[in-house]
Amino acid sequence: MLKQISFLRTLSLFLSNDKEKMNTKELLRACHIENGSLVDSSFQEVLHAHYSHSRIVIMVDENTHDCCLEFLITSFDQLANAEVMLLPAGEENKVLEVCFQVWEALTEYGIGRNDLIINLGGGVVTDMGGFIAAVYKRGVDFIHIPTSLLGMVDASIGGKTGVDLGVYKNQLGVFRAPVKIYTDHLFLETLPELEVLNGFAEMLKHALISSIEMWSDLKSISSLKAIKESQCIEQSQAVKCRVVLADPLESGQRKTLNFGHTVGHAIEGFYLDSLALPHGHCVALGMVVESFISFAHGHLSKEELNDISSTILRWFEIPDFDSSSFESLVLLMKNDKKNSANKILGCALKGIGNCIWDVEYTSDEIKNGLEYLLKLK
Ligand SMILES: NC(=O)c1ccc[n+]([C@@H]2O[C@H](COP(=O)([O-])OP(=O)(O)OC[C@H]3O[C@@H](n4cnc5c(N)ncnc54)[C@H](O)[C@@H]3O)[C@@H](O)[C@H]2O)c1
Repeated sequence: MLKQISFLRTLSLFLSNDKEKMNTKELLRACHIENGSLVDSSFQEVLHAHYSHSRIVIMVDENTHDCCLEFLITSFDQLANAEVMLLPAGEENKVLEVCFQVWEALTEYGIGRNDLIINLGGGVVTDMGGFIAAVYKRGVDFIHIPTSLLGMVDASIGGKTGVDLGVYKNQLGVFRAPVKIYTDHLFLETLPELEVLNGFAEMLKHALISSIEMWSDLKSISSLKAIKESQCIEQSQAVKCRVVLADPLESGQRKTLNFGHTVGHAIEGFYLDSLALPHGHCVALGMVVESFISFAHGHLSKEELNDISSTILRWFEIPDFDSSSFESLVLLMKNDKKNSANKILGCALKGIGNCIWDVEYTSDEIKNGLEYLLKLK
C-alpha cells in the first residue's frame, strides 16, 4: 500500500536527517507535500498506480463544490465517476453529526478499506474529511488538496484530524497523515480576500516563531495578490513541517504553533457575538500582545517589538475596545485548554525567529499587553 511505503520513507528520512539540517524540499517531501500545478504533479500517477481499482470519494463544501470541483473532475479521467460528498461549509459544521451522515453514506455506497477519499477544501474539509477517513473501517487512505491559504500552509499539514464538540474546538480527533498533500495556487484565485488574510496571519506566525529570513520576506509583501503568488507559502509550509516532524504528537515544540493563540482565542471569544472577528485577525492581534509580553520578559528588544507590531497592524485593524474589557479577556484566557495548574500558559518570542513555550503569563502582564495594543490604535 502507498500509505505504508510513504510512512516508512518519512521515518527513514527523518531518522537519517537532523531536522534542523533538512532543506525545504526535504521537509516538504517528508510531509508528503507536492507544490505546483496539480495537472503536472504526481497526482494522476498516484491515482493510476495505487487506486485504479478503488472507488474514489471527493469531499467538498458548498464553496469548493462551486469553485474547485469542476476543475478536478474534468482534469482527471479517473475522477469522472467519483462519488462527491457535499459537506456544509463553515466551522459550525465541523461536528460529529455531519461525520455520522457521511459514514452512513460511505457504508451505503459500499466504500471499503482499499478505497480513497480526496479532501478538496479549506481546513474544515481537510480536518473533518481526514477524521472521517481515519475512523471509517479503522482507516482508509486520504489525499488532501487544500484550497484555502490557511489549509495550504497549516491545516493540511501535520496529521491532526478532528471535529469540534460544542464550544470546544478540535475536541475529538486522531492523528493520521494523508497519503499526499497537493498544493496548487490556482485554487487561491477564487478564495475570498478575508480568507487570504486569515492564512497570511498564520504565515506571519510561522516566520516569527522560526525564521527571521522569512519575516523579512513577508515584510516586503504589499498586496493580497502578492501574498497569493509569494514563495513564502512554501517557506511557511516548510516551517510547519519542521515543527511537526520534530514533535508529531505535540509534547513540546509543536506548542510554538500556538504563538498568538492564547490571547487571540480570548479576543475571538470576546467578539463572537458582536464583531465576529475572523480567527486570523484575532491571532494577529494576539501576536502583538504576546510579543509585548515577550518584550516584558526581556526576550525581545523594543525595536523588534515595534517591527512586529507595525508589520502586523499594516494588515489587521485594532477593533474598538477599552480597559473595561481587560478583565473579561483575562478570564477567557484562564479557561484556555493549554493551561495547567491554573496558570495561563502561552509562548514567548526569544528574538524574531525563535520561540519558547509553556511560558506563564500573569494577569498584569496580559493587561499591560492589551494596554499597549490599545495605545497603537
Ligand atoms: N489540523 C490542523 O493542524 C489545523 C491547523 C490550523 C487550522 N485548522 C483548522 O482549519 C480550519 C480553518 O481552515 P480554513 O481557514 O481553511 O477554513 P474553511 O475550511 O472554513 O475555509 C474558509 C472559507 O473559504 C472557503 N473556501 C475554501 N477554499 C476556497 C476556494 N478555493 N475558493 C472559494 N472559497 C473557498 C470555504 O468554503 C470557507 O467558506 C479550522 O477548523 C481550524 O481548526 C487545523
